Amino acid sequence: MESRPANRNSDPNSNPGTNSVGPPSALTYLDPHYWNERFSSEEHYEWLKDYSHFQHLIKANIKISSSVLELGCGNSQLCEELYKDGIVDMTCSDLSSVAVEKMQSRLLSKGYKEIKVVQADMLDLPFNSECFDVVIEKGTMDVLFVDAGDPWNPRQETVSKVMATLDGVHRVLKPNGIFISITFGQPHFRRPLFMDPKFTWSMEYDTFGDGFHYFFYILRKGKRRNDEKEKDEKCKDPSISMYQDELEGEDYLFRTHIGDDED
Ligand SMILES: C[S@@+](CC[C@H](N)C(=O)[O-])C[C@H]1O[C@@H](n2cnc3c(N)ncnc32)[C@H](O)[C@@H]1O
Repeated sequence: MESRPANRNSDPNSNPGTNSVGPPSALTYLDPHYWNERFSSEEHYEWLKDYSHFQHLIKANIKISSSVLELGCGNSQLCEELYKDGIVDMTCSDLSSVAVEKMQSRLLSKGYKEIKVVQADMLDLPFNSECFDVVIEKGTMDVLFVDAGDPWNPRQETVSKVMATLDGVHRVLKPNGIFISITFGQPHFRRPLFMDPKFTWSMEYDTFGDGFHYFFYILRKGKRRNDEKEKDEKCKDPSISMYQDELEGEDYLFRTHIGDDED
């Protein structure tokens, strides 16, 4: 699969305060140095869509008393928006030390001192077992898929990294906790991974967005039913969300590497 020009369809006004030109290749997203360098100069970039587009789904699924862990917060405003909606027991995490440092100062300068910010690799989460009601990620696990190759049959190395992340998420969730994954990844590619038999969670999803659909997965720990599909049942889900030209510049580069088998 070829990389596309990073600034295709870029609209400098679409994500204010950011540069919307991505790296030369989507594989760069796997490089931790890239993120540190990027966050040194970038103050805010919101991947996929901002909170207003999926707030209704958050409100339907997260109680304000929940303890929430965000994976790969970057310089997103997701945690601030959750805080404004009343969720104060929140831990943001990212692999990038620069993202963590800048997020810490940003939150303190705004007076959101209850929100903790921790440097953490999602592949090896440094948290006790069963300590969060909710784990949430937006576009973070998508990074793991940029070198997946054939999305129907991802490389073993990609699968191992995804499973390490899911193992950790499953472990840190309380017995009735939920994992929310907000992503470009379509159900026929995500289900075989999310529904591995070793996990006890159930899987459901919603979509949001206009022409292009983004996916909002909800995995409920301890709620797996025996009749739920476990393994890859190809082509059962409708192939939706193909209006790629509606994606903003960098999202386009990202998505073409995480589950678009058209090339
Ligand atoms: C595509 S950005 C998404 C940022 C943010 N969630 C948003 O919605 O705007 C991916 C984020 O994942 C972080 N990241 C990449 N690899 C990671 C890892 N192994 N563990 C934790 N965070 C990681 C990057 O530093 C970056 O902040």
